[in-house]
Amino acid sequence: MTANFDALNAQRIHDAIHTFSKNHLNTTYNSKISCFDSIDSTNAWLIENGKDGDFCLSETQTAGRGRRDNQWVSPNSGNIYLSYCCYFDNTIEHQSLLGLIAGIAIAEALQEIGLSGHGIKWPNDIFWNGKKLGGILIQTADNYQKFVIGIGLNVSLPEESRNEITQAAVSLEDALKGKNFDRETIMINLIQRLLTHTEMFVQLPFQAFRQSWNRWDILHGQDVSFQHQNKEISGTVDGIDKHGRIGILLESGIEYFSAADIKLKKPKHT
Ligand code: BTN
Repeated sequence: MTANFDALNAQRIHDAIHTFSKNHLNTTYNSKISCFDSIDSTNAWLIENGKDGDFCLSETQTAGRGRRDNQWVSPNSGNIYLSYCCYFDNTIEHQSLLGLIAGIAIAEALQEIGLSGHGIKWPNDIFWNGKKLGGILIQTADNYQKFVIGIGLNVSLPEESRNEITQAAVSLEDALKGKNFDRETIMINLIQRLLTHTEMFVQLPFQAFRQSWNRWDILHGQDVSFQHQNKEISGTVDGIDKHGRIGILLESGIEYFSAADIKLKKPKHT
């Protein structure tokens, strides 16, 4: 059995989200879900046109963007390219946790469709069985008040796209082999989880957040090494702090590093 690659139906998605918000959120969802056959980048579109609460999705992207200025390979093969625009007061101290929250939202949405064995590789990668299943790109505008959370999820990867991707990649089709799943349901789950988590974001209780993070963190307790200020650092991953920095247990004690400072190599033992 394989995925259902019928074109996404924006109206069905909107209706499902509207009903969900009436029953489960504090505010009823009335924002726009713009659905394209092809676009340069759903993130770029929302940075330009998005209002608070708007979503943008597309069947393919001609200039999909990944983190660290990488390209995000975006074939028209049934993958998910979804972006969400939200506004937060730029005085919120824990703004930097937004990307981690998005990861938790994705992990939960995938669990809802029956996936297991997946998790988040700090800070923003969704992994399954040691390979990358999806990624998150957060962009900001309007003096750090406008956030666009972009999600790319491999649902079905043609061979030529696998060859273009520079790291080991996996798709939901691979991970859910033999199971029926429906892309529209994944999209709806994803949007619902994003709305739920971002609604709670301003008042985020850090302890509860850390508990969810630990539940999905695939690096927890792993030995890792990376370059930092021209030095090779090796240690054991030990959770995150209030700013979303990763804790590394070194011989001298725990030190926290931000995504801007380091790029984690593969864990030493997986
Ligand atoms: C990463 O490098 O892991 C982040 C990938 C993020 C890709 C998504 S696809 C939807 C949205 N639009 C983009 O151009 N990028 C993000």
